[in-house]
Amino acid sequence: RRAAVLAFPFNGGQGREGVELGGMHLVEHGILEQLKEMEWETSFEPNEDIDTFRPSSDPDIEGLKKPRFVSSVTKRVAEQVSTAAKAGDFVVTLGGDHSLAMGTVSGVFEAYPDACLIWIDAHADINTPSTTDSGNMHGCPISFVMGIAGDIPEFAWIKKCLLPERLVYIGLRDVDPAEKKILKDNGIKAFSMHHVDKYGIGKVVEMALDHVNPNRDRPIHLSFDVDALDPSVAPSTGTPVRGGLTFREGHYICEALAETGLLVAADIMEVNPALEDEQAVFQTVQVGCSLTRCCLGETLL
Ligand code: ARG
Ligand code: MN
Ligand code: MN
Ligand code: MN
Repeated sequence: RRAAVLAFPFNGGQGREGVELGGMHLVEHGILEQLKEMEWETSFEPNEDIDTFRPSSDPDIEGLKKPRFVSSVTKRVAEQVSTAAKAGDFVVTLGGDHSLAMGTVSGVFEAYPDACLIWIDAHADINTPSTTDSGNMHGCPISFVMGIAGDIPEFAWIKKCLLPERLVYIGLRDVDPAEKKILKDNGIKAFSMHHVDKYGIGKVVEMALDHVNPNRDRPIHLSFDVDALDPSVAPSTGTPVRGGLTFREGHYICEALAETGLLVAADIMEVNPALEDEQAVFQTVQVGCSLTRCCLGETLL
């Protein structure tokens, strides 16, 4: 099997410098060699030219920050992801901030229209231009691919590709009031940390799959924001929230999805090597690599 690893050194969906370095840190930590060792034929696209997508002027649109930059970069993401997915490659996207998922989801669903999306995050990232308090587009990607963001000409390239019933969350614990309403109004299934505590991660993953993939016949796209993990496990990330997934719970999710044989794409997002100390960065980069390997089938035995 072939894996296409795409890194996007992009931070325009949020306000903190450093998240653009996340992907290259995973590569420097050896993720490409690790996948080759697991007998994946691996290609790598570093997208070092991403800054050339930055427009000279990029005023806010409906309160959204850097909207044109986010739009042009995520359009490129969508093209690369769909090309690789259509070629039959497993697509690994290394962020970068989570606004990149506007592109990864668009690309995966272009190649696999009947796919489902499993979103692992402390946050719901489903704010619309009218609900976002921060204006940071990493808090909004799902509203765009679901077609509930309203019509903004700059984002006209994004197709409404994700149905509410094809999305499930695990790990939520910091959801804005307006996002809670969106989840409720659209009947979107979400397993918060409360549910992980109550049922255990094994049952939660099973229930999540039963919801989005009842017959276990749909391709799966996993979008993993490392801030889903507890800050003690993944400290170097821009919006940490305490009370998160343990090291094993995070890995279990990836292992269980890989085990279905249906996983076609995985995003590893929001590693920020500019935050916290050297030990924290090492820990976060290392966990990013091991989650990626689990997605590609690494097992404990
Ligand atoms: N809900 C907040 C916002 O809209 C935080 C989003 C954090 N997102 C992330 N990908 N880390 O700004
Ligand atoms: Mn998050
Ligand atoms: Mn908020
Ligand atoms: Mn996120």
